[in-house]
Amino acid sequence: MNCVDNINGKTSVYAVIGCPVKHSFSPVIHNTLAKVLEHNLTYNTFEVKPEGLDAAILGAYELGIQGLNVTIPHKQEVMKCLCSIDDLAMQIGAVNTLKYTDKGYKGYNTDAYGLKACLDFQGIKLIDKTVVVIGAGGAARSACIMLAAQKVKKIFIVNRTIEKGNDISENIKKYYSTDVEVLTYEGLDTIDTIDVCIQTTSVGMSPNNEESPIVSSDFFEKVSVAVDIIFNPWKTAFLEDAEKMGCTTINGFDMLYFQAIKSYEIWNDIEIPYDIKTQVKEILELYYTKN
Ligand code: ATR
Repeated sequence: MNCVDNINGKTSVYAVIGCPVKHSFSPVIHNTLAKVLEHNLTYNTFEVKPEGLDAAILGAYELGIQGLNVTIPHKQEVMKCLCSIDDLAMQIGAVNTLKYTDKGYKGYNTDAYGLKACLDFQGIKLIDKTVVVIGAGGAARSACIMLAAQKVKKIFIVNRTIEKGNDISENIKKYYSTDVEVLTYEGLDTIDTIDVCIQTTSVGMSPNNEESPIVSSDFFEKVSVAVDIIFNPWKTAFLEDAEKMGCTTINGFDMLYFQAIKSYEIWNDIEIPYDIKTQVKEILELYYTKN
């Protein structure tokens, strides 16, 4: 048997905390990045229950864990455990990335960045665009702040429950002068042209593969780019309909990958070159779709 040659006394430790968390694909992404970039680090999962969050963060800091991702249900609660919080994360009201500093952990939100980066990667710019966000949960909230920060022309928030959409709209208006309109699904007919349509609900997620929040595929005639935060199934009914109508489509895997890239870059104070991002993305897509 050979000794491991990549984990030793100097190995930096990173992890994702959440509950549940064992299903997370993040260890595969970060450990692959570390391997390709030849960094001496390891990325693990720690299941942390809500009542153990404060102790877990204190313990992680004392152990010198250099970075953490934070997932459901801790993204808001963890904010009180941090020494400082990045502006975008503060505006969103949620944190998914913690970086070790001399004073404690600093919090960031790279979920929002994942959306921008996966569009950037395909050469799609958001400035002056008309964007529809379907859903008004946590994912929609972070997407909307990113869209406003990128100076889109108008955001339509489409949700069954109008109050939740209004709540996000009010949050955007605290920080940006972006034109925002909140609609129910019936209101979708009133929009003429949609540059980007982002699906942020759980509708269509496995095992409900046939479901889509958009009932008529004719809707996609006016859409240029369709993004779905779901990647199980790989191609949701929403994306399948969009593709049939000629839209450019992006699934949730790209968003997950690019939020991970951003966390990795923050932790290591680097910018990962474009060709490495492409190379690792291909490796991971192949791995994910085969497993
Ligand atoms: P997350 O924080 O992960 O975004 P969430 O807060 O549970 O998830 O938000 C789920 C979103 O999906 C909500 O906007 C919800 O709509 P309502 O606010 O009207 O409940 C939306 N959603 C869930 N199931 C839906 C369905 N069957 N049809 C349409 N929208 C749905």
